[in-house]
Amino acid sequence: MVSQIDIHKVFGGVVPEVAARKHVEFLYKLTQLAFEQSRIAPHQINAVAVSYGPGLIGSLLVGTSFAKGMSLSFNTPFIGVNHLIGHIYANFLDFPDLKPPFLTLLVSGGHTMLLLTKDYLEFEIIGQTRDDAAGEAFDKVARILGLGYPGGPIIEETAKNGKHIYDFPKPLLNEGYDFSFSGLKTSVLYFVNEHPEARIEDIAASFQEAITDTLVHKVTKYALENNIHDIVIAGGVASNSVLRTKLDKFKNKINIYYPRLIFCTDNAAMIARAAYEKYKRGLINSLDLDVSPNLGL
Ligand code: KG4
Ligand code: ZN
Repeated sequence: MVSQIDIHKVFGGVVPEVAARKHVEFLYKLTQLAFEQSRIAPHQINAVAVSYGPGLIGSLLVGTSFAKGMSLSFNTPFIGVNHLIGHIYANFLDFPDLKPPFLTLLVSGGHTMLLLTKDYLEFEIIGQTRDDAAGEAFDKVARILGLGYPGGPIIEETAKNGKHIYDFPKPLLNEGYDFSFSGLKTSVLYFVNEHPEARIEDIAASFQEAITDTLVHKVTKYALENNIHDIVIAGGVASNSVLRTKLDKFKNKINIYYPRLIFCTDNAAMIARAAYEKYKRGLINSLDLDVSPNLGL
């Protein structure tokens, strides 16, 4: 596996140009490594898939151009995948019997959505964030607390030595299915400034409590009110163990699915799994497919 996280840590976040250049630097080596480790030869490849959005334009351009080159040289179909759908499909890697329709909570660094996966390639958005995404809130609060990047795993680790003793707001808790996390982040900032004596571990635990409570409340409320039996969690924040533990409490009423940790954060397997569904349906893209940094569902 190749990850840019150690590089982005130095800058306290993702610098778009650095990310794109690192894609250029590593994509070829990574591909060679994948061929070596999987022992799959180019002539055994049925199709080449790539995420064409949403995301940072530079990284998307490097990835799609490389994938188009591969598809040309292997003489195989080229398939563009929506990154968000990739996250949902990460669940099919571990749960092959899982079938739509199901309710999905998609929580990543750039997105927070409650949606119905009605069919394999058909989605309906029930609610989404009006400002910061859940992962973004973890990252920003980690920065406020001086904990570094990426915020989610560090907050989770730090919170293990803390207690939920501060009640931070749970925005829009009982107001429909949209989310809003920027006020929560700001209230942590004010609290830190006003209470220099407070332990960072306790603040991290209290913030994590507020945000996971909000996510769990909305997704389970919708499922119970609409008689939905399967909830699928996806995206980097789905790695969070407090979120998972809270959701697991509903397991006597609703089936809860989340991917293995390595399939929660961005990965190539989820893109390949989503592409397989398009491939089976003959949904192949032309080599002039453009990238789409703001692609929605
Ligand atoms: O899905 P992802 O890898 O990338 C995007 O598509 O955005 O998600 C990354 C986000 C980051 O904001 C990161 O802080 C968050 O997922 N994250 C977590 C955890 N692991 C990653 N948030 C909370 N708890 C975690 N354990
Ligand atoms: Zn992602």
